[in-house]
Amino acid sequence: MGRFGSSTQGVPETGDAPKHVAIIMDGNGRWAKRRFLPRVAGHKRGVDIVRDTVRTSVDLGVEYLTLFAFSSENWRRPADEVSFLMQLFVRALEQEVTRLHENGIRLRIVGDLSPLDRGLVKLVEDAERLTDANDRLTLTIAVNYGGRWDILQAVNQLTQAAPERAGNYTEADITPLLAMNYAPEPDLFIRTGGEQRISNFLLWQLAYTELYFTDTLWPDFDAPAYHAAVQSFRRRERRFGRTGDQLAAAATGSPAQGT
Ligand code: IPE
Ligand code: IPE
Ligand code: MG
Repeated sequence: MGRFGSSTQGVPETGDAPKHVAIIMDGNGRWAKRRFLPRVAGHKRGVDIVRDTVRTSVDLGVEYLTLFAFSSENWRRPADEVSFLMQLFVRALEQEVTRLHENGIRLRIVGDLSPLDRGLVKLVEDAERLTDANDRLTLTIAVNYGGRWDILQAVNQLTQAAPERAGNYTEADITPLLAMNYAPEPDLFIRTGGEQRISNFLLWQLAYTELYFTDTLWPDFDAPAYHAAVQSFRRRERRFGRTGDQLAAAATGSPAQGT
């Protein structure tokens, strides 16, 4: 069993920092194009911003940071861009894992790793093992990840493990089998680069997440831009189906009027 049920069961206080931030890092290609650089220059710069984002997350008190690095649909890109992205991932693992570990960061990779290069998978396994006991921040990188893939692999595990309960499965049967069963559902979702879509990211887990879209391109997503996203989140009232009056009453401990 995972430690977390559905976040829709409890209502966090408005004004709290997000515990779990999930980001679609989009806009690298356009950042490069505007500078008359090849698209891959944007991806390289994007890795630098990941480093800053990890640091800022720790400063903000975020406990889980989840970054979408490569979607199950990104295989459709030109082969040379795909292989550059994979090489960049290998290099980032080789260069950054020691520093992440020294800073108390636990690294997890989620996604279907089966089509990835053996050497890369070995690096991932070693990095996860090395950093497993760290608890300052859990950094999850989604690679060859798709929200539908995640739900489907959970359903396949469940139907194999408990075929006799077919027709009676519950949400609580699915959540522990999702790839990110070690994390609460995201409080704040950020997408940079101006598009307003989910692109098959965490479909199940985003059910009640606050969504924040910004035109800022990922390589420009600096600490002030991140702070602005968190400020926007802090102002929101998360009702999870309840009324605003019910929430106010729960906060003061008196029963709500008219409920
Ligand atoms: C996001 O930037 C990085 C990945 C998908 C790997 P893009 O490469 O999608 O950049 P744009 O959207 O073309 O600007
Ligand atoms: C989403 O970005 C995936 C990642 C950031 C890894 P894309 O740029 O590939 O998304 P779409 O296809 O334009 O929606
Ligand atoms: Mg894009």
